[in-house]
Amino acid sequence: MNSISIPKHNWDTSLYEDKHAFVWQYGEDLLQLLNPKPGELILDLGCGTGQLTEKIAQTGAKAMGIDSAATMIEKARQNYPHIRFDVADARSFQVAQPCDAVFSNAVLHWVKEADRAIASIHQALKPKGRFVAEFGGKGNIQVIAKALESAIASVGISKPQTLNPWYFPSIGEYASLLEKQGFDVIYATLFSRPTPLADKEAGIANWIEMFASAFLVGMSDEQTIQVIRKVEESLKPTLYQDGTWIADYRRIRILAIKI
Ligand code: BEZ
Repeated sequence: MNSISIPKHNWDTSLYEDKHAFVWQYGEDLLQLLNPKPGELILDLGCGTGQLTEKIAQTGAKAMGIDSAATMIEKARQNYPHIRFDVADARSFQVAQPCDAVFSNAVLHWVKEADRAIASIHQALKPKGRFVAEFGGKGNIQVIAKALESAIASVGISKPQTLNPWYFPSIGEYASLLEKQGFDVIYATLFSRPTPLADKEAGIANWIEMFASAFLVGMSDEQTIQVIRKVEESLKPTLYQDGTWIADYRRIRILAIKI
């Protein structure tokens, strides 16, 4: 049986780069939807450690990255010193110069105040500027979240759903928010992407440590271990196949144009 290390902090950049590289690897084909052109000014919103910002820069576009986590920005600057990276909040960021496009991969499901993020993105774009994003959509990690909530309830913590940090909208919901704030939504899709997790048997425990620590805040180490074990036990029959954990990801992908 794999050992469990007790989560001590969020956004550990080494854990992110070592075990969760799929976050940006899957994001690479989103770049085709972005279709960056040389000379364009493009903001990567929620750039993490900068891998996709660098891919955008390689096309000849002028890429910049922002992220709310100072640890991520510090690592992004070390990784790609030729790119400008800043700490900023999706709900309130401002740009010095309007952009041709705002790009965002695997971030906006962390922003429950979607209307504020959309307002920031809108003001950051030139007229006819593009907003291209992918994030968790309606039904994303439904099986994992349910298992987590029931494991947490089983150790005596009430209303675990109130700890849920994520926002997974439907196409209709998100497109309406965009239209209300002056975007034309010209492409939107919702699709399942079962996602193999790194690290074999420890895959789901590592995923919880990296991404679901909001559920574990205030728990004793013993409770945390119990919760993770219970999640593993309950998900093993459905999400563990041939020695690999498969997360039940469901993505929403959007291309919208500022009117
Ligand atoms: C996602 O990329 O869908 C995701 C990642 C971490 C937590 C929740 C969702």
